[in-house]
Amino acid sequence: MVNRRGLITSALATGAAGALLPGHALASAAPQKATGAAFPDGFLWGAATAAHQVEGNNLNADLWVIENVPNTIFAERSGDATNSFELWPVDLDLVKAMGLNSYRFSLEWARIEPDKGHFSRAMLDHYKAMIAGCRARGLQPVVTFNHFTTPRWFAAEGGWHNPESPALFARFCDRAASHLAAGIALALTLNEPNLAGLIGEILPPQLLAGDRATQEAAAKQLGVGQYSPGVALYVQDPKTYRANMMEAHRRGVAAIKRVRSDLPVGVSLALLDDQAEGKNSIRDRMRERYYGEWLRLAAETCDFIGVQNYERKIWDDKGPLAPPKGARLNTAGAEVWAGSLAGAVRYAWEATKLPVYVTEHGVNTDDDALRQWLIPAALADLKRAIDDGVPVRGYIHWSLIDNFEWGFGYRYRYGLHAFDPNTFKRTAKPSAGVLGAIARRNALT
Ligand code: BGC
Repeated sequence: MVNRRGLITSALATGAAGALLPGHALASAAPQKATGAAFPDGFLWGAATAAHQVEGNNLNADLWVIENVPNTIFAERSGDATNSFELWPVDLDLVKAMGLNSYRFSLEWARIEPDKGHFSRAMLDHYKAMIAGCRARGLQPVVTFNHFTTPRWFAAEGGWHNPESPALFARFCDRAASHLAAGIALALTLNEPNLAGLIGEILPPQLLAGDRATQEAAAKQLGVGQYSPGVALYVQDPKTYRANMMEAHRRGVAAIKRVRSDLPVGVSLALLDDQAEGKNSIRDRMRERYYGEWLRLAAETCDFIGVQNYERKIWDDKGPLAPPKGARLNTAGAEVWAGSLAGAVRYAWEATKLPVYVTEHGVNTDDDALRQWLIPAALADLKRAIDDGVPVRGYIHWSLIDNFEWGFGYRYRYGLHAFDPNTFKRTAKPSAGVLGAIARRNALT
């Protein structure tokens, strides 16, 4: 049985308390030295999770209400998830055992500020112990301040619709950074905010209606006018919601920088590898719609850009084309195309001229052979981009472990490790060995 208290104490003793630990060296956006088959010196190799998807029993989070309301659109409840709130030291051991040198995880705002204005020192200490636990294992902590979920009180005040939301997020960033920034290697404000309020438009209308009904049922249950969670298909007023997230990011960066000016801060964006087909392709129009304002904001405010890529999309003059015949497919039926990661990374670099970290890349599959194929194939293209001068500083795979895939529940599996929902025992998949071997060599072969 893992003794959490003992592990926390030893992690705190060896870790970040007091002195500033170095942020990951960004240097500049200049090309870096990568000789032959090797990735650049100091390249970050990591695996990622997000708090709500792995911690379990995240009772004060916006989605806990959504998942548990009658007739919810969610396939199942997050429940215990992978019990990583308890078992984080085991997770860090997995990362280390793979031979990686970094771990990306997120802070759960709903734990740190369970009631508006009431900050929990114990929960801040929890994340401090995780950061120290990373450092004690030689892992650079890459910390997302907000990965989709917000506190339920925040959602009950309109979430990102609330004009006060940027200030509330900035206050959270200030409190969290004051407690934690000394040990962090890279900070990310928000996760994939570029899709907020937009994903609904590409989904079947019944899904949107179902999500809206779920939000309305949650509002009714809590006796509030509007309940607007941090990740949603239905967003009542996308323009306001997006504008507030952009302002929240600006103020969040400023709050973190006020605490620690030398800490690299970025934002992670969901980027497809969008390709143009034929005359009058709508590709560029779609890029502008889904990424434009966030790429510009990142260029203006960030030290680096986090790229999260899972797919390519080929656009003709009308819309996206179906996957080519014979394409490899993920569990959801979307194409898995190894070149998409490098394509998205090249685009992010061209658009922002910021150093790039791949903060997520992976595949939703029950067939680990697909993951074992994808990792080296995608990294080979990524290496070519580096050799062409694109300043890529790290690769973080989604995900360390199978987890709660939002509305889809546990059916979609992105993990390098499987877990048993009854015992929480983790088991490495062969793909964990594939990524680990590359990371240890800092080279593909
Ligand atoms: C998100 C993760 C999610 C993953 C796979 C990204 O959109 O940041 O939370 O699990 O993709 O869908």
